[in-house]
Amino acid sequence: MENKLKYGMIGGGTGSFIGPVHRMAAELDGMAQLVCGAFSSDPGRSSASGKELGLDPARIYPDFRTMITSERELPEESRMDFVVIVTPNHLHYEPARIALENGFHVVCDKPLTRTLQEAVALGETVKKSGLLFALTHTYTGYPMVKKARELVRSGALGRIHKVMVTYLQGWLSSYPEGSGQKQALWRTDPRYTGKTSTMGDIGTHAENLISYVSGLKIQEISAQLNTLIKERKMDDDGSVMLRYEDGVAGAILVSQVATGEENNVTLRIYGEKGGLEWNQMEPNSLIVRWEEGPMEVYRTGVSVRSITGGYDPGNRLPSGHPEGFIEAFANIYKQFEQALLDRKAGKSPPPHGYDFPTVEDGIQGMKFLEKVVESSRSEKKWITFT
Ligand SMILES: NC(=O)c1ccc[n+]([C@@H]2O[C@H](COP(=O)([O-])OP(=O)(O)OC[C@H]3O[C@@H](n4cnc5c(N)ncnc54)[C@H](O)[C@@H]3O)[C@@H](O)[C@H]2O)c1
Repeated sequence: MENKLKYGMIGGGTGSFIGPVHRMAAELDGMAQLVCGAFSSDPGRSSASGKELGLDPARIYPDFRTMITSERELPEESRMDFVVIVTPNHLHYEPARIALENGFHVVCDKPLTRTLQEAVALGETVKKSGLLFALTHTYTGYPMVKKARELVRSGALGRIHKVMVTYLQGWLSSYPEGSGQKQALWRTDPRYTGKTSTMGDIGTHAENLISYVSGLKIQEISAQLNTLIKERKMDDDGSVMLRYEDGVAGAILVSQVATGEENNVTLRIYGEKGGLEWNQMEPNSLIVRWEEGPMEVYRTGVSVRSITGGYDPGNRLPSGHPEGFIEAFANIYKQFEQALLDRKAGKSPPPHGYDFPTVEDGIQGMKFLEKVVESSRSEKKWITFT
């Protein structure tokens, strides 16, 4: 415990989805330990969740404001180092802002905030604070996505022609919010989720995945948001066509009413010399098809032992021992925690920097959502992105 980083969690109470995943990921490499939390909007439920996690009752807080101000008062050696925010989207901005203003580093889940204005303001707060801020765009943590990035950025595929992500889920193809399913309720209500539902929930991952792998900047956008379940208040499906710099064509197709689909994220990128395909349901393989020569399949742990530039390829096990979602999440944490440990030890960052999504990625995601909504309401076929 002595050398471990200490973190507090906001949200992630009993029965929540992603909070427990964050706890596993944050602690997978033995670099951090949960010391406090405000796990629910209800103090009684927060207390019950904290007790289940074995926390000191004095550090299970009734709300996030009390948690941040109380932790601030503790001696440096026992107070938390960073805050993890895993609440619904409308409760990202305020806890993140208050945490940063009180000197705590932040890990926050996506989308960054509920509105673009909040995102821009949070970017300013991060800058002013000089503190670390990670945004958990999970898919950037997969070893094979890192390999895809290397192949694209090293020029191995040649000039890029086409980039696309399809992200298909089926869990909203019935009407779960009608029967009070918690995760569906807040995700389909603009007061909690923001201007878009499905596009914000999974479309931001798709946009970030293309951006992480290719580094390309969006120039123009043409989007359509659909609501297939007639009782639903917001989008549950969407298609976005994109024009990236240098005329690269892009497409993002997302749906949460793709009946039977689980979490089918597929990235495809095609260049003049070859194309690649990665699917998160088979995350330890990366298919590369060459214009000349046979198709190749890269595999985690066998064909990828290092990544150009000194980046960690992100696998922990020998080949043939599948790694997945938790490990991808943990790769984001590992980079963030290493950055924080280095900072505490007065070490300078490695030459290639640290490899985790930042507040800037979050602002880009919120801008993407803003433009998707604008385009889907516009008469014009294309609108500019800048
Ligand atoms: N990176 C990913 O792959 C990924 C996956 C799922 C969810 N998410 C994101 O994580 C966030 C949470 O999603 P979820 O599916 O876990 O939601 P959830 O509804 O399962 O959990 C939300 C948690 O926040 C708590 N909460 C609500 N108000 C609170 C408050 N005022 N103070 C403290 N706690 C409060 C709830 O009690 C609950 O424990 C969302 O922003 C979502 O977009 C990201």
